[in-house]
Amino acid sequence: MRHLLNPLDFSVEELDELMDVALDISKNPQKYAECCKGKKIATLFYEPSTRTRLSFEAAMLNLGGSVLGFSSAASSSAAKGESVADTIRMVSCYADICAMRHPKEGAPLVASLNSSIPVINAGDGGHQHPTQTLTDLMTIRSLKGRLNNITIGLCGDLKFGRTVHSLINALVRYDNVRFILISPNELRVPDYIRQEVLTGNHAEFKEVTQLEDVMPELDILYMTRVQRERFFNEEEYIRMKDCYILDAKKMELAKPDMLVLHPLPRVNEISVEVDKDPRAVYFKQVQFGVYIRMALILKLLEIQV
Ligand code: NCD
Repeated sequence: MRHLLNPLDFSVEELDELMDVALDISKNPQKYAECCKGKKIATLFYEPSTRTRLSFEAAMLNLGGSVLGFSSAASSSAAKGESVADTIRMVSCYADICAMRHPKEGAPLVASLNSSIPVINAGDGGHQHPTQTLTDLMTIRSLKGRLNNITIGLCGDLKFGRTVHSLINALVRYDNVRFILISPNELRVPDYIRQEVLTGNHAEFKEVTQLEDVMPELDILYMTRVQRERFFNEEEYIRMKDCYILDAKKMELAKPDMLVLHPLPRVNEISVEVDKDPRAVYFKQVQFGVYIRMALILKLLEIQV
């Protein structure tokens, strides 16, 4: 039985296959409409989410399966002190697969060690968010046509932003990907990403603080929100929160075919005027997220179509 805890749990070839299935799903949704009849996904969300949880639920419903779960720790037995290990043993009796989001790094790993059903990490603290990465890879591959030979700018909260950590982890495996890390000094990527992931894989990267300066170089701009819930104090958050705001004026500096991605939710970091720019693809990204999660559910449940 396989789980998805980290984007590296799948090889580059497996990711390609997954994206091929997702593409086929997008073209022939009817073909897949009954594949998971009688199957259930449990969404165990100990931390707020709109997109990710609904995306998993929509994915399973589109496959003809059904969903159960909870959307906050307060509404589950975690509030009574139940451990993740016990919760997953119980959920294994109710569902065929589960997606877990948890504020503690490593919680989905603990779940996987105690589970008799596949566990998908739907975001663990400031650590990883592999299904967002699958979504991001699918978006870039579909709209840019390739995952190699790109310069990607990652901008905003690179310290706490788990989507950034997972995406860097995944992209270092492709040829000639240049990373430009744009953040205030206080919100730079963690050391392990800089040393083990980037330097360790001989990836070309630079760290800068000004977005405008690097805009013309980028093929992809991946904007992120400052992760308020992971700050130790509110004053620090307030000082950082509007460090980057992408607006129409900054978009004028970019290549005509640069793509803007964002895992969402957006707060202030992309001004709404950018939404009408054809290079802004963050809402298309949401749609790709459903297709790739459908493909992932099929893979982990070992359902052949
Ligand atoms: C991201 C997350 O939860 O890490 N959201 C998402 O899943 N699409 C990004 C964020 O919350 O900023």
